[in-house]
Amino acid sequence: LVLVLDFGGQYNQLIARRIRELSVYCEMVPYDISLDDLKAKMPSAIIMTGGPASVHGEGAPHCDPRIFTLGIPILGICYGMHLLAQELGGQVKPSQVREYGRTNMELVDDDILFNDIIGPTQVWMSHSDSVVTIPEGFRVIARTGNCPVAAFSHSQQKIYGVQFHPEVKHSLKGMQVLHNFLFTICGLKGDWDLNDFIAESIDEVRRQVGDRKVLCGLSGGVDSSVAAALVHKAVGDQLVCVYVDNGLMRKGESEQVLKTFKDNMHMNLVFADAGARFLSKLAGVTDPERKRKIIGAEFIRVFEEEARKLGEIDFLVQGTIYPDIVESGTKTAHTIKSHHNVGGLPEDMQFELVEPLKLLFKDEVREIGEKLGLAEEIVWRQPFPGPGLGVRVLEEVTAEKVHILQEADYIVREEIKKAGLDREVWQYFAVLPPMRSVGVMGDGRTYAYPIIIRAVSSDDAMTAEWAQLPYEVLDIMARRIVNEVQGVNRVAYDITSKPPGTIEWE
Ligand code: XMP
Repeated sequence: LVLVLDFGGQYNQLIARRIRELSVYCEMVPYDISLDDLKAKMPSAIIMTGGPASVHGEGAPHCDPRIFTLGIPILGICYGMHLLAQELGGQVKPSQVREYGRTNMELVDDDILFNDIIGPTQVWMSHSDSVVTIPEGFRVIARTGNCPVAAFSHSQQKIYGVQFHPEVKHSLKGMQVLHNFLFTICGLKGDWDLNDFIAESIDEVRRQVGDRKVLCGLSGGVDSSVAAALVHKAVGDQLVCVYVDNGLMRKGESEQVLKTFKDNMHMNLVFADAGARFLSKLAGVTDPERKRKIIGAEFIRVFEEEARKLGEIDFLVQGTIYPDIVESGTKTAHTIKSHHNVGGLPEDMQFELVEPLKLLFKDEVREIGEKLGLAEEIVWRQPFPGPGLGVRVLEEVTAEKVHILQEADYIVREEIKKAGLDREVWQYFAVLPPMRSVGVMGDGRTYAYPIIIRAVSSDDAMTAEWAQLPYEVLDIMARRIVNEVQGVNRVAYDITSKPPGTIEWE
């Protein structure tokens, strides 16, 4: 196990990600973890992350300094390096020139940390403080034009500090540095894999749950689906899943969920067919926020009704994943978000949570889904808003509009898949705006809705670029939608990025 002490840096999740890419298991813990808790985890190595603070700043985060005397190899990155330097008797000062971005680093002394790296090498810097005096017994092993101590080492004590960010791809040999630290210096093997993880999680869920009953609100999304499949492997029919069909799902989606979980995996699945209820609540409502609130509240009501029918339930499965828990920027305690995959459940429903994916990243969750035999459509599902098509039918939601949108959206998805773009484009869907216009079809005049196609590329949905889909793909989508979907006479393509647009229209 490698422990990553989180000092709030923006790349912290990336550090954990990179270590796992080297098949080494790691966990991120708050920087102020107690010495006893840290020792109990018996880490083979410790990595101290970067962070926004200055070691001289008021309330600067410090870890227990006794950690440095345990004989566990340590790598401090950026702020982590400054803290090491300061605590061990060196000196840190504000740099004359703030270094930000790519820079070349010279290696000034041989060290195993830089095995198989030939200098100068490009690294990624982002700092305003620098180490000016190294602690006694340490050596300077690298420098850049503006930073005389870009890396230091104490090879007997196996304590290392780097000013640059090895986890960022722009540090071209960053992975090699992590590799050298973990394998050559710490002697780790790189033998962690997701099969072990699955086996361990199954044991853990069994221990936690015993012979009691577990409930899971299944949305058909990747995280809740994989969590349910894993818990089912552990406790079989003690798990009951509730799937609420709010009538605002995409075409074929509810059938897919039923087929996967009920027919293929033989799971206990309660299917709440509540479309009519949702639509009647939404009648006449045009404001998007009101629509969201109504859908959210109705969801809880249906879920609660179904759960009550099942009698006493002790546990609730949540598809919380690692990025939901760890957020860079602040102390862990402040940033744990309460993620409620089943919406804010009423407080009188007391469950203990089962969160088998809480240490995994999205791509690891997908890999586990595949290993557990979940359908590809579920494992690789694109993000989809909780309120479903209720968001993408603008203004009032009616059964007719939902039907039009489902059909058009299905064609968009089908053509993207045919073109082999389904794993490349982050999100792709159809939107139904609330107006009609004149067109001509055959020899007659039409007065019908347009469909807007939206497709974006993105890494995290925070920003997005409109996807430059090939004209041929857009052309065939447009022809098919107008020909096959009753009530549509026009197709437009949204070429707005985010910002200033959002991904969804609502
Ligand atoms: P916007 O439209 O704000 O969307 O650019 C950003 C991302 O969030 C998704 N989205 C949601 N996901 N529940 C979700 O789980 C929601 O209510 C919701 N609303 C938007 C959206 O699809 C995009 O990926």
